[in-house]
Amino acid sequence: MTERQIVLQADRLSKRFGGNTVVNQVSISFTRGRLHSILGPNGAGKTTLFNLLTKDLTPDAGAIRLGDRDITSATPDQVAMLGVARSYQISSVFLEMSVRENVWIAAYRARRGNPFSFWRRAAAFSQPIDLANACLQRLDLLRIADAPVKELSYGDQRLLEISVTLACAPDVILLDEPTAGLSGKETARVKQVIRSLKDEFSIIMIEHNVGIVMDLSDEITVMNRGAVVAHGGPDDIRANRDVREAYFGR
Ligand SMILES: Nc1ncnc2c1ncn2[C@@H]1O[C@H](COP(=O)(O)OP(=O)(O)OP(=O)(O)O)[C@@H](O)[C@H]1O
Ligand SMILES: [Mg+2]
Repeated sequence: MTERQIVLQADRLSKRFGGNTVVNQVSISFTRGRLHSILGPNGAGKTTLFNLLTKDLTPDAGAIRLGDRDITSATPDQVAMLGVARSYQISSVFLEMSVRENVWIAAYRARRGNPFSFWRRAAAFSQPIDLANACLQRLDLLRIADAPVKELSYGDQRLLEISVTLACAPDVILLDEPTAGLSGKETARVKQVIRSLKDEFSIIMIEHNVGIVMDLSDEITVMNRGAVVAHGGPDDIRANRDVREAYFGR
């Protein structure tokens, strides 16, 4: 049996806003090469946990490790350079620019930030532009590469977000509700894309669509009121009575 390698790990992570503890002593480990979903009702603290893992927020207590490195005090830029990429909302891309330009910018930025270890998968591409083009192709965005982002359908905007994330040449990808607001057809497309990324990346996904979570996840952690309430594979989670009542209505 191959040993499971922990790629990212939080140890008793806590975050308060005013008197409100929204992430409460969360310990969670993410295994290299797996898709690990975070389920939980609105306000459970899922996005705040992402913000802590990327260091967009500073934890009040606890520690975060990336591989064998302690990143508890790292900046968001350092975390990104170390290979953790987050699919930001469309508001962080340049709406007036074309799809192609946005992906190019991400690839050049990643290279500039980390010139000596533009590594692994990315090392196969001698130039950032080659990596960017591969990301466009991979997400089937060449068909709209010259369109300004502001003209894209919502589904294509989501694919662009993922493409921009890949252009950062990450190891670990964090997706926050990748199918939120999409039509059934668009959801199916994004789901297919995420499935295709599974073999190559460690993926952490917040998603309310339980069907997608069950179909794609290797591991699932359920949060409620800032705390981890369940963890396991899809079958364990489906069989968990509390989770079943909350999510499956029985
Ligand atoms: N910057 C902030 N300042 C104050 N309170 C915040 C802040 N960010 C989040 N919260 C509160 O923390 C709690 C957890 O929010 P969070 O966004 O992490 O939940 P979530 O699980 O991602 O929910 P959703 O499924 O609706 O996205 C909520 O009560 C929210 O109002
Ligand atoms: Mg959220």
